[in-house]
Amino acid sequence: MNDQPTVGVVGLGYVGLPLSMLFCEVGHHVIGVDVNPDAVQRLISGQSYIEDVESSVLKQHIDSGAFRPTTDYDNLKDAQIISICVPTPLRKSKDPDMAYVANAAETIAEVLVAGQTVILESTVYPGATEELILPILSKNGLEVGKDFYLAFSPERVDPGNTQFSIREIPKVIGGITPQCTEKAVEAYQSIFPKVSTVKSTKEAEMAKLLENTFRSVNIGLINELALVAHKMDIDIWEVIEAASTKPFGFMPFYPGPGLGGHCIPVDPFYLSWKAKMVAAETGFIELAGRVNANMPLHVVDRLSRLLNDRGKPINGSKVLVLGVAYKRDVSDMRESPALDVLGLLHQSKADVSYHDPFVSQFDYLDQTWNSVKLSESLIAEQDCVVILTDHTHYDYERIAKHASQVFDTRNATKNIRSQFDNIEVL
Ligand SMILES: NC(=O)c1ccc[n+]([C@@H]2O[C@H](COP(=O)([O-])OP(=O)(O)OC[C@H]3O[C@@H](n4cnc5c(N)ncnc54)[C@H](O)[C@@H]3O)[C@@H](O)[C@H]2O)c1
Repeated sequence: MNDQPTVGVVGLGYVGLPLSMLFCEVGHHVIGVDVNPDAVQRLISGQSYIEDVESSVLKQHIDSGAFRPTTDYDNLKDAQIISICVPTPLRKSKDPDMAYVANAAETIAEVLVAGQTVILESTVYPGATEELILPILSKNGLEVGKDFYLAFSPERVDPGNTQFSIREIPKVIGGITPQCTEKAVEAYQSIFPKVSTVKSTKEAEMAKLLENTFRSVNIGLINELALVAHKMDIDIWEVIEAASTKPFGFMPFYPGPGLGGHCIPVDPFYLSWKAKMVAAETGFIELAGRVNANMPLHVVDRLSRLLNDRGKPINGSKVLVLGVAYKRDVSDMRESPALDVLGLLHQSKADVSYHDPFVSQFDYLDQTWNSVKLSESLIAEQDCVVILTDHTHYDYERIAKHASQVFDTRNATKNIRSQFDNIEVL
């Protein structure tokens, strides 16, 4: 007889699905709830759509009955623990879009039963768990810390990172009351060996925003320095390598074509939005956001100068983009700077195509883009090959050998650059 508590996971995406698998692995039954019936159907048939989750592992938990994906929130009545892992994007105005989290909480409130522990995993602004989620969950008369427990525990997973699995990343937990923190620690102790508690939900919410703002600001700094270094004819990549030999007080960040993914370009603006409410300034966030958002424009500007040096206007030039996912070895295109680069090239009337081993097709700018077959003749036909994502799959030597010009925005050609005179680096 299995005495592990049943877990409900709401939102079965990049965060919720791996979390569900982790609970299943240590013997919990997991009820996975998602509003997307197609996703639920795929999961029931044992097909994973998240790279970090093997279909064979998913199928095993489906077949054993340990994992039950559903669109029906009513099933959550059977769970003792409920983790919320729904999206928290930005609106076009760069204000937080809390609609998914609020909707999930509203629906959970309808089925909430005494004794349950609810843990919010979605990234939110400081205060959101207490100010937004708590009133919704309490509206049917249950009292927090007594009848049910509510905590915030940020997800810190790095999709595609094989060095740190989700289990190895310590979990930060802050409850609405000390009992809530205790219950949340209890809920997660079976899957996370390292847990760090803070005194309230707000510290836990802010910790996540500090982590991602730290990345955004440092990437903004190195992007700015890359532009400066280029103007001074200094190799920024060698500079970073040299600075990294310092054994303390420095950690390397790398320039690139812009920020991507669901977290780093988004999360700092959750903090700056909330800061405005208390009349506090977030100058670093705004500045880093501007520098990082300008990188695609810089990439296209550098590319057009490269073409110009060879007597070619960008209009009509053949440009092949390598990699459209936002980072190496994943298929995730959310907020990918490649979209901005493709958009700008399209606008300039370049004859643009792309290849990505992880992204065979996507819709953008009222058209369907298909990954081309990366043959030597196709590479040779291009006026420029632009490396936007440094997938490990690519044979950069072969690419440089056949291309007339390569523009490398990721330092992917570091080990071969000295052998070629047709590679320009960001
Ligand atoms: N992706 C990451 O690497 C990552 C890392 C750390 C934190 N986070 C945070 O975790 C949260 C989830 O991100 P994600 O990347 O897993 O998102 P995702 O888009 O991959 O998955 C979210 C899932 O939630 C479902 N959903 C939406 N509304 C729902 C509702 N009301 N009820 C049930 N299901 C609903 C969607 O259909 C989708 O399947 C976000 O706040 C994000 O910022 C993401």
